[in-house]
Amino acid sequence: MVELEKICFPPPDNYDLRTLQNFVSLNGAGLLRWYPDSPAGAGAPPPLVAFHLFDCFTAELITLDVHPDWRRQGIGSALLSRSLAKLRSLGHATVTCQIAVDNAASLALHAKFGFTPVGKIIGYYGSGRDAIHLAARL
Ligand SMILES: CC(C)(COP(=O)(O)OP(=O)(O)OC[C@H]1O[C@@H](n2cnc3c(N)ncnc32)[C@H](O)[C@@H]1OP(=O)(O)O)[C@@H](O)C(=O)NCCC(=O)NCCS
Repeated sequence: MVELEKICFPPPDNYDLRTLQNFVSLNGAGLLRWYPDSPAGAGAPPPLVAFHLFDCFTAELITLDVHPDWRRQGIGSALLSRSLAKLRSLGHATVTCQIAVDNAASLALHAKFGFTPVGKIIGYYGSGRDAIHLAARL
């Protein structure tokens, strides 16, 4: 997960090992991982293709990572769909997330799932780098 996070969010924007450990250790952490159907080779561990981290208590999406070689194949949608279904089944009525203003791919993906902007967080990713706060009904 740490390696994939570095590929998806080049440093310094990536969550480091300690931060990811903290997220997955949270009581109520939601984690979905995606592995390829066919094994990499005898004895080799399957490569992690994608993962989605979310908080089942606050209904907040934390991070969604799909390896560049596997994008535009519906994996991000499949993970998001399953995460939203889980949060719905837990009784949440609304889900939220933050996405960088210039992350067109993620904004388009989340828009497809009904996320709409509800605010802007100035400097969320550091000075001059803002995020859009989005919410969707479940
Ligand atoms: C954003 C991300 C998770 C999308 O994953 P994905 O598996 O490629 O997404 P999907 O194949 O399910 O795409 C679903 C829809 O999202 C939109 N989308 C995805 N990538 C896009 C791109 N590069 N440009 C524009 N729209 C895009 C499209 O509407 C797409 O539907 P289509 O393929 O029918 O046109 C992936 O690009 C990624 O990991 N990016 C780097 C990390 C990141 O930004 N994560 C999100 C943090 S909030």
